[in-house]
Amino acid sequence: MRILLIDDNKTNLLFLKKLVEKLRCEAVTYDTPGDLLLAMPALDYDVAIIDFQMPVYNGVELLLEISRFEKYRDKPAVFVTADTDIATRMAALDAGAIDFLTKPVNPLEFQARIRNLMALVDARNKLADKAEWLRTEVEKAVAELRAREEEIIERLTIAASYKDKETAKHTRRVGFYSEAIARAYGLDEPLCTDIRLASPMHDIGKVAIPDAVLLKAGKLTEQEFAAMQQHTTVGSDILRESQSSLLQLAASIASSHHERWDGQGYPLRLSGSAIPLAGRIVALADNFDALTTVRPYKEAWSVERAVAHIRERAGSQFDPECVAAFEEALPSIMSIMLANLDEGRQIEDALVPTGKSAAA
Ligand code: C2E
Ligand code: SIN
Ligand code: SIN
Ligand code: SIN
Ligand code: FE
Ligand code: FE
Repeated sequence: MRILLIDDNKTNLLFLKKLVEKLRCEAVTYDTPGDLLLAMPALDYDVAIIDFQMPVYNGVELLLEISRFEKYRDKPAVFVTADTDIATRMAALDAGAIDFLTKPVNPLEFQARIRNLMALVDARNKLADKAEWLRTEVEKAVAELRAREEEIIERLTIAASYKDKETAKHTRRVGFYSEAIARAYGLDEPLCTDIRLASPMHDIGKVAIPDAVLLKAGKLTEQEFAAMQQHTTVGSDILRESQSSLLQLAASIASSHHERWDGQGYPLRLSGSAIPLAGRIVALADNFDALTTVRPYKEAWSVERAVAHIRERAGSQFDPECVAAFEEALPSIMSIMLANLDEGRQIEDALVPTGKSAAA
């Protein structure tokens, strides 16, 4: 341990230093408060022994100065004083002193007091270590829980891909597009990440749709489309009861990604801001991806055509503010698209210039 000794009397200082060193502690000595304060806050010590009567700063004033540094606020300080006046002692206690030694210092008493203080410091350090250890353990547990959540999402998405034939790249694109739009919209970074992780499950409810409908090459009948629309509520039913906030977000996206800004969507015909924001964002990402890739019922559109289609529907199908964020995010969206192209899809097909996106 390091014991800080401050006394303007050099003989006293040397005497205290010897006593401290006999306890196998390191003594850090100063004979003027000014020099001590100059060495702060680089200086390290565990216990301070401060002479009360000193020129310029007395002990109380010095301790108040020391306490201005956050790092010394919890360090025990002891005053050495010849003054037995109660007012002086109260002032010292108010300034944060935890003990007194009366001059002239008795060596045995001094050493016993220092040993007690060292035990106190030691106990405090152990407690702090324990708190720190607990904190990292909790952090580890939270990270592990989070990793499990992310794994569950990945596995659910894989399960759905057996049925849906959409490749992992499709769902990943919707995740990354949604994240890019959320970021351009100005959402906090952790929420953008959550949206990327949760949005690939937006169509998980398609597992409940008969293949004859899901994979139909042509246009759906009214009845078939009504069946298809159930993928929103089925998806929400699958995910909703989860304790995981990530899966709850995924449930709200599954339920709301086919709602329309003008209230003409499904399943609840919600409109405007009654539609969860994540759902409004994923609706754009999902539509953009559905339009620019092949579906059993349609060819892939050029980016230019898809963007024009979406822009035209700002305020009717889509939230206009989300469309603005989508347009702002287009350079990122183009990069994501190029990094996650389907096999067999020519780069030139995806790269028909749109003016804005050419900057990507
Ligand atoms: P999906 O293929 O993932 O398409 C998602 C959404 O992208 C569609 O939601 C729609 O809003 C938009 N979209 C995709 N292709 C087009 C298009 O050619 N024109 C326009 N205007 N929008 C397009 P929607 O319509 O609610 O459909 C939900 C899901 O129902 C689709 O998911 C798809 O799995 C299925 N589906 C929709 N229409 C047909 C169809 O005519 N035939 C078949 N076999 N399935 C369909
Ligand atoms: C899906 O919508 O089925 C998943 C990703 C996509 O195809 O857009
Ligand atoms: C749709 O709801 O996906 C169709 C959008 C449109 O009205 O063109
Ligand atoms: C297009 O065919 O280029 C646009 C079609 C649409 O807006 O629905
Ligand atoms: Fe869908
Ligand atoms: Fe979709």
